Amino acid sequence: MTKVRISPSILSADFSRLGAEIEALDKAGADFIHIDVMDGHYVPNITLGPPIVKALRPHTKLPFDVHLMISPVDPFLEAFAEAGADGITVHPEAGPHIHRTLQHIRALGKRPGIVLNPGTPIDHIDPVLDLVDLVLIMTVNPGFGGQSFIYSQLKKIEAAAERIAKSGRHIDLEVDGGVNAKTVKDVINAGADLLVAGTAVFQGGPDQYAANITALRG
Ligand code: DX5
Ligand code: ZN
Repeated sequence: MTKVRISPSILSADFSRLGAEIEALDKAGADFIHIDVMDGHYVPNITLGPPIVKALRPHTKLPFDVHLMISPVDPFLEAFAEAGADGITVHPEAGPHIHRTLQHIRALGKRPGIVLNPGTPIDHIDPVLDLVDLVLIMTVNPGFGGQSFIYSQLKKIEAAAERIAKSGRHIDLEVDGGVNAKTVKDVINAGADLLVAGTAVFQGGPDQYAANITALRG
């Protein structure tokens, strides 16, 4: 059974102290840092871009798990790769050629990931499973933290786990949205091994981050 890793989403962090927040997450035992990039076009919210990723890079050695909720996504891949992203995860709806986009991320020397919205069928991963190091299943509609978990996506997580097992490749199965003490057992039982959590990690402030992360590991 792969160890469950935690990738706190900084969308729920104190944006006036992001560097210190990232250092606190590192100290609290996070495995990745999940950076939600939103452009107000692909999703109805705007967050941050490559300059912020670059500014945050020196604050931790943890891998930056960059979730691009932007479209068109292709023109910005290089900028995020240069800014310090380690994994770049993209939505198939955010450009015309998802296969080429994932090839481009690999060519930049980064870990390519594909992310499925609640309305996107699981078979979207079939043509590109050989190209990715990560499959991300959204359990909320993208754009905001603090939303309620969409339980219908548990079946999709199981289906993704089956496809990944059959592929024989080492591919992280990440779940993002409404992951907390109430939903985490179902998510892990469905086969996820990398959990994004914003609200559940940041609640209670920096003194609680380590306990919140440990609680999510189950
Ligand atoms: C939503 C983002 C998620 C979100 C998770 O579009 O992709 O990463 O920040 O936040 P919580 O854990 O609060 O649902
Ligand atoms: Zn995310």
